[in-house]
Amino acid sequence: MKTFTIAALAAALLGGVAHADTIKVGVVGPFSGPFALQGKNFKAGIDAYMALNGNTVGDDTIEIIYRDIPTADPAQSKALSQELVVKEGVQYLAGFYFTPDAMAATPLLEQANVPMVVMNAATSAIVTKSPYVVRTSFTTWQTSTPIAKVAFDGGTKKVISVVSDYGPGVDAEAAFKAGFEKAGGAVVEAIRMPLQTNDFSPIMQRIKDSGAEGVFAFLPSGPTTLGFVKAFNENGLKDAGVKFFAPGDLTQESDLPALGESALGLQTTFHYAVSHGSAENKKFVEAAVKAIGNPAELSFPSVGAYDGMHVIYKMIEATGGEQDAAKAVEAVKGLSWESPRGPVTIDPESRHITQNIYLREVAKAEDGTYYNKEIQTFEKQGDPGLAAAK
Ligand code: PHB
Repeated sequence: MKTFTIAALAAALLGGVAHADTIKVGVVGPFSGPFALQGKNFKAGIDAYMALNGNTVGDDTIEIIYRDIPTADPAQSKALSQELVVKEGVQYLAGFYFTPDAMAATPLLEQANVPMVVMNAATSAIVTKSPYVVRTSFTTWQTSTPIAKVAFDGGTKKVISVVSDYGPGVDAEAAFKAGFEKAGGAVVEAIRMPLQTNDFSPIMQRIKDSGAEGVFAFLPSGPTTLGFVKAFNENGLKDAGVKFFAPGDLTQESDLPALGESALGLQTTFHYAVSHGSAENKKFVEAAVKAIGNPAELSFPSVGAYDGMHVIYKMIEATGGEQDAAKAVEAVKGLSWESPRGPVTIDPESRHITQNIYLREVAKAEDGTYYNKEIQTFEKQGDPGLAAAK
């Protein structure tokens, strides 16, 4: 007994003691309200990962603790994150659908010794707010840059840009403008709408009046994007020949049944399509559909969450379950793996994910369902937004 105690003590002093623990991961996201389906996708991705990889890493058991934040609410995000860290003792923070919610929690990380794995929020600057932020989703710079080239190469020279007036919208506007002007096109007008906008008819009128040949748009996926694309189709813009350019947030798979025939042919660029043709994705979709229940509800936040869990499992492995945020983050810098979306790497400098961005077109499957069909690949895209900010 005595020998055992001394050996255990020595091992503990050396920092190498192995004992079974529960490691808690706090996940903040919209699990109720208008964006609940996006949060449900976080959970489906996490459940899929744990169904395929187990709920233990080494001797430790992983427990997920969810906190609901229905809409962008930075003060509430900070309070919930703090509560997760202080009261629940979570070793990792994850999730964060909206940029303001991710931003608000970053000041807690260093003092709490907790890494944050951003599973959705897409403003470039988030990763610069703390050395403990790692992101497994995308940025709107990353997804909106390729569509600018697609627009110009397709013969459109004059575009009006319409975005939600907050982080990822402002980034998307800048990305499209930079890419489109570099190609030789002109952005004739740039409209920023309040995030809460839900009547898009006046915007559609301004698009018509602008005389632009096409519109570039970004809004956060959810009821917002469904309303916007519907308004585009129903206000006669599509029939008038106005071209539509956007990142894939605007044609997320879960919006396609409600958009129906009018969505056919819409082209977007994005990091993930549920239809992505790979063995890894097949395995993921099967597990995620099982988790979410209704296959028509599966959308991109699920893959950000699935890959986020992969990163968290690697961090737990590297730290042997000890709470060491610096060591955990260091361990995943440069990490590469085959994601359901394709090959990815955590860029060691930015801690943001490098990935393929695909041009996709809304198509109809034989069974009558609509899907995003990948038609072109822009390989290994980093985040142009971070370079632009320098
Ligand atoms: C964000 O707030 O960063 C955000 C939310 C939803 C999206 C994209 C970005 O579809």
